[in-house]
Amino acid sequence: MANLYPLAAPLLARIDPERAHGLTLAALRLGLAAGRPPRPRPQLEGAAFGRRFANPLGLAAGFDKDARAVVPLLRAGFGFVEVGTVTPRPQAGQPRPRLYRLPEDGAAINRMGFNSAGMAAVAARLAGREDGGPLGVNIGPNRGAGDPVADYVVCFRRLGPLADYVAINVSSPNTPGLRRLQEAARLGPLLARLAREREALDRRPALLLKLSPDLEPGAALEAARLAAGEGFDGLIVSNTSLQRPAGLAGRHRHQAGGLSGRPLFAISTPLLRALWRAEGQRLILVGAGGIDSAQAAYGKIRAGATLLQLYTALAFHGPALVENILDGLQALLARDGYRTLAEAVGADA
Ligand code: FNR
Repeated sequence: MANLYPLAAPLLARIDPERAHGLTLAALRLGLAAGRPPRPRPQLEGAAFGRRFANPLGLAAGFDKDARAVVPLLRAGFGFVEVGTVTPRPQAGQPRPRLYRLPEDGAAINRMGFNSAGMAAVAARLAGREDGGPLGVNIGPNRGAGDPVADYVVCFRRLGPLADYVAINVSSPNTPGLRRLQEAARLGPLLARLAREREALDRRPALLLKLSPDLEPGAALEAARLAAGEGFDGLIVSNTSLQRPAGLAGRHRHQAGGLSGRPLFAISTPLLRALWRAEGQRLILVGAGGIDSAQAAYGKIRAGATLLQLYTALAFHGPALVENILDGLQALLARDGYRTLAEAVGADA
């Protein structure tokens, strides 16, 4: 099918960002954004959580919250796709507008607040899925949940068996109180409970914890230590940030919400490196935050990431970015004499 994205890009850049996102998802589902099938790249293959990954570059949570376009996204070249955040019951999220582009900064600010079709709708879509590639499901509680732990548990029971990994989102800044679940006294019991729940499943997904880049370094290390101690498989580093680094130029820079995209690279990558040093032997690290080029992707790998995720750069560069990054990554590995991706993981740490 033809790839209409290059024709549509100037229009998508001008309209409301959430509407542009909806159109992009619809085009993906209809096969209108498909280029050539991705080339095999043996050097970029890897394994994690008992699964093969054709390449390390995944789609981050938030793009396909309700699992509407998993197969087309894998066909666009992503090595894996993470859907969600999914909440137990459907909810609308915050009032619009709630998503802003900062084109001058290659960034976005969002305060979506977990708009979700709910776990039943997502489960129905995933149940009929052919195994096209590794799939993660990111879960979180409904807004105002009296007992957030119970919300994670019901979501995990329902969606865990349908996923290769489940990401526990305790780090989105747009659900009041959510990030406090990262405090050791609350995090320990939550992680222990989910680890126990996993034992009860016939088909057991890997368990990942998704962290905020705004944690104090000590708190982040403590969270990682707890996750490893409970038998979690990995960390996603990181979610969006409430920080507003000096130098942001986009006129929406003072909007409330989580900052993503290029300025997040310098915030999330030192945290990734610190977590690799501390727990890199016990946990697989997924590097996210500001990946918009092969150099940025390579930087995350050298800081300790085995897998990568991006979202914001896709809105500025379109689906062709995926293949461009993978081509560039292969060239950078060859330049530095690495035969496999795994050899480069943590080289800078
Ligand atoms: C996100 N992100 C996100 N993360 C998450 O765990 N659950 C979610 O529902 C969402 N939703 C969401 C919506 C929008 C509009 C954006 C831009 C981001 C965060 C995302 O998964 C990722 O961690 C960050 O955006 C950092 O990566 P990038 O965007 O800098 O490549």
